[in-house]
Amino acid sequence: MPIQYHIQSQEFHLYNDQVSYLIRVLENGQLGHLYYGARIPDEADHGYLVENTYRPMTTYVSPDDYSFSLSNVQQEYPPYGTSDYRHPAYEVKQANGSTVTNFTFEGYQIINGKPQLTGLPATYASSSHPATTLEIALVDQLTQVKMILSYSIFSDSPIIARNVRFENHGKETVTLTTAQSLSVDLPDADYEWVQFSGAWGRERHPHVTPLRPGLQAVDSLRGASSHMQNPFLILKRPQTTEMSGEAYAVSLVYSGNFLAQAEVNEYDVTRLQIGINPFHFAWQLTPGTNFQTPEALIAYTEKGLNDLSQSFHRLYNDCLVRGAWQHQVRPVLINNWEATYFDFTEEKLIAIAKQAKKLGIELFVLDDGWFGERMTETDGLGDWWPNPKRLPNGIAGLANQIHQLGLKFGLWFEPEMANRNSKLVRQHPDWLIQTPNRPQSQGRRQYVLDLAQPEVIDYLFDLIAKVLHDGQIDYVKWDMNRNMSEVYSLAYPANQQGEIFHRYILGVYQLYERLRQAFPKILFESCASGGGRFDAGMLYYAPQAWTSDDSDAIERLAIQGGTSYGYPLSSMGAHVSVTPNEQVGRLTPLNTRGNVAYFGDLGYELDITQMTPAELAQIKAQIEEYKRYRSVFQYGNFYRLTGLGQAKLINWLVVSQDQRIAILGNFKVLNDVNAPYRRLRIPGLKADFRYHVTEVKPAGKVNRGSFTGQELARLGLVISDASAGQTNETTDFYSRCFILEAE
Ligand code: DGJ
Repeated sequence: MPIQYHIQSQEFHLYNDQVSYLIRVLENGQLGHLYYGARIPDEADHGYLVENTYRPMTTYVSPDDYSFSLSNVQQEYPPYGTSDYRHPAYEVKQANGSTVTNFTFEGYQIINGKPQLTGLPATYASSSHPATTLEIALVDQLTQVKMILSYSIFSDSPIIARNVRFENHGKETVTLTTAQSLSVDLPDADYEWVQFSGAWGRERHPHVTPLRPGLQAVDSLRGASSHMQNPFLILKRPQTTEMSGEAYAVSLVYSGNFLAQAEVNEYDVTRLQIGINPFHFAWQLTPGTNFQTPEALIAYTEKGLNDLSQSFHRLYNDCLVRGAWQHQVRPVLINNWEATYFDFTEEKLIAIAKQAKKLGIELFVLDDGWFGERMTETDGLGDWWPNPKRLPNGIAGLANQIHQLGLKFGLWFEPEMANRNSKLVRQHPDWLIQTPNRPQSQGRRQYVLDLAQPEVIDYLFDLIAKVLHDGQIDYVKWDMNRNMSEVYSLAYPANQQGEIFHRYILGVYQLYERLRQAFPKILFESCASGGGRFDAGMLYYAPQAWTSDDSDAIERLAIQGGTSYGYPLSSMGAHVSVTPNEQVGRLTPLNTRGNVAYFGDLGYELDITQMTPAELAQIKAQIEEYKRYRSVFQYGNFYRLTGLGQAKLINWLVVSQDQRIAILGNFKVLNDVNAPYRRLRIPGLKADFRYHVTEVKPAGKVNRGSFTGQELARLGLVISDASAGQTNETTDFYSRCFILEAE
């Protein structure tokens, strides 16, 4: 049993081969945090870790005791204002205006498995990845509100999944104004904070700063996890590298407003929290009802950041992504967006599809513009039926032709939005998020539908399901191109307006779930103007996501590299597009564009009817090569061999699960003249296997010798410029791809 309760000491020990997590009931009945880290033996009592001594400027819990203060002890799910002055994990506002509570230990249960969360995305256990769950109940006697803290430990992962359920067993309504999913007090502050931030077109760049006293946070108030910040955060030891050292990470399985923060107090205790953003959040917990927080995940490693990332990749691939596409290799696609934008006809689409088929592409995706009266971004959004002016044979007719070519057919939707100029808004103006008597801001000339209203969800489901059914659609790209503003729902009373952001996202999840269940074979790809909602919550519904609207290969090194810290390669849509690149105007070789897009779900997003025979031949060869190794690219163990912030020369490696195949991408961001000799040590191989090394060049494959795994790990692979051929062959944005195959 990987969860032990020691009754005398009232200590809980969650453990597997990799980690231990220790919780203890404190002397005032609240929960203390003792330890989360590398596995330790199961011992009965770690009371010595609860350090309670007199401290100046401290308030104490008991009238005649100068030691027990919540400021002194490390806690699991702390309140504010009853001797602890740090930011709390929760706040419950009562009818008399008070927020003081006293939640004390009531009992616990250990559950074999992992209960699912109703209406929310979460990791799940299975026979191949079993988990055990500890639920600890605490009750506030005065209000009879209970909180159930839930902890699940998987047998084969260092990651612990947490969530909290509030249950109102009392007689009065209380308001939850803060309900974090996870809070943990780490016993020191010797960490660097790594956040993944950016903007449209440059999402999830890693930023590293030393942890300092006080609060540091990232958050979103946009109604989506956002381009700007990501609900994933690492705390690493300063000396930790990609290949060694300690680090923690937290991830929120949620796609709406979030807050992730660390608070370092005067005694160098680090309180790490993640959950729904308390700003603009107020949930009416009426008698007899519950509130369920989203799930949060916390990970630990003592083996460096690649190991930390690989733990998330494994957990998401095995225990978060669901359905027919889980563990399946993803199709190579062509998307017409950057080839045509809104300027397409059925004829043009068919021409692209025919060319795509010749190149070995497997899925044709029709992007924005096929529906309602959509000719530009100003009209038609919300009217999910084909536009006869563009598609005389409808979606079914087009889909049929694409299917006849031997391609799968995918379609773009933006279910959560509407243009004012749409039948939907003309008929249901009250279905938009809007504040009464106030102007409504627009983004991309569109408005957000109120998915907190069940009838809006029903309406969208019926319309979309009809198109999916009529066209026998194989893939859906679910886009979301603006953030929420003037957030208010006409369907809810004044005292529930603080619930709308969360209810909206629950509505998004519900629509996704209904469509997934009705069309279990469809591959969903989430998107939000590129990577504006790239989070673990979305992966539960859509196994892959459009990583960014910026498909420039060099910018993608930063975006895909940054994203890889928290998310698997199988989740990242990665496309080859034109050069000069439409977002940054950069000229990069087709070889490099392909090599970067290899490390994800490969697609093409350019007009392949306008390319030269030589370029087409190169694309064909690229696709052939990718297909040969795509299970490794999508599901192999991924290593960033260049550390955080080293941008000039980047090396990425994927190694197959059986360690027989490894692929190295070597990317020269800026060229260096008369460059140094370079040898790269290759991790993750079997020491006694002999690997044959081939370099894949546009002109063909070149034999680079054969070496044992131990040689490659210790002596390294020679990747000096001189080894590329002529010493002057390399340029800025030059790249090389090496395949290492066990003989
Ligand atoms: C934003 C997406 O990120 C693009 O790929 C494309 O689908 C456009 N929206 C279409 O409006």
